[in-house]
Amino acid sequence: MRPVALITGASSGIGAEFARQLARKGYDLVLVARRAERLAELAASLPVQCEVLAADLAERGDVQRVAGRVRGEPRLELLVNNAGFGTKGRFWEAPLAEQQRMHALHVDATVELTHAALGGMVQRAKGAVINVASVAAFSRSQSNVSYCATKTWMVAFTEGLELELRGLGSAVQVQALCPGFTYSEFHDTMGVSRDRIPKGLWMKAEDVVADSLRGLDHRKLIVVPGWRYRLFVALFGRLPHSWRMAMQQRSPHTRGRV
Ligand SMILES: NC(=O)c1ccc[n+]([C@@H]2O[C@H](COP(=O)([O-])OP(=O)(O)OC[C@H]3O[C@@H](n4cnc5c(N)ncnc54)[C@H](OP(=O)(O)O)[C@@H]3O)[C@@H](O)[C@H]2O)c1
Repeated sequence: MRPVALITGASSGIGAEFARQLARKGYDLVLVARRAERLAELAASLPVQCEVLAADLAERGDVQRVAGRVRGEPRLELLVNNAGFGTKGRFWEAPLAEQQRMHALHVDATVELTHAALGGMVQRAKGAVINVASVAAFSRSQSNVSYCATKTWMVAFTEGLELELRGLGSAVQVQALCPGFTYSEFHDTMGVSRDRIPKGLWMKAEDVVADSLRGLDHRKLIVVPGWRYRLFVALFGRLPHSWRMAMQQRSPHTRGRV
């Protein structure tokens, strides 16, 4: 029986790349995002069985519908909570609705879909959940408050799940994937130019996803693709809190966000 992977945010960027690489690994796919036509195009290009599930995962009803699909899939071996977006502007100046949609998508949808997936996976003693966070999970920046906070939550949530699964001796895996700047539609959607971010900091979605899947093979809990970002996370986290806050205060908040 072929395994099934459900990928949220599969209509572009990192999510679409997960679909391509998982298809090569022999997974059948359930592709979720709002743009059904983009998902259908991707599905048609892949040599595996693909189901297109159009859903706005910032909307409770749509999340419940997708969670039902997750619960009802006995072949589900991988859930990738990847759908996400960034916003601009200071927290209190940015539209509240957008900030709330970000929490609904990054936090509430991740909670509901992961809950739906893990019940069956733990029972079958097989499967994995990848939560696509960001290196922004390890820092804070102005005009990026909700993004950093929700991505930090994704890492903390994944770490907590790991403790529970290991406590049970379960074979089920979880991973927090924490990419840095990655070529995708992310910055276009946010209306932020890529030009202000040094070229050397950009990664290809292909490499980010390959690192994540290699990490899964090695049961890695936190995957930070790219040596520059790994170095940043390792060193920055060791600094005293007051130093980190002072450095983040000085960092130019309009340079871009990951
Ligand atoms: N690119 C970067 O520099 C970077 C760095 C670190 C982390 N990340 C994270 O990587 C993940 C993927 O982003 P990406 O870089 O691949 O950006 P992207 O190309 O803009 O892809 C975002 C995906 O999320 C989907 N999405 C957005 N809102 C949604 C909603 N309400 N309901 C369902 N799907 C929704 C989009 O599909 P529809 O518009 O069709 O719904 C799209 O498929 C995000 O979680 C992002 O935070 C990105």
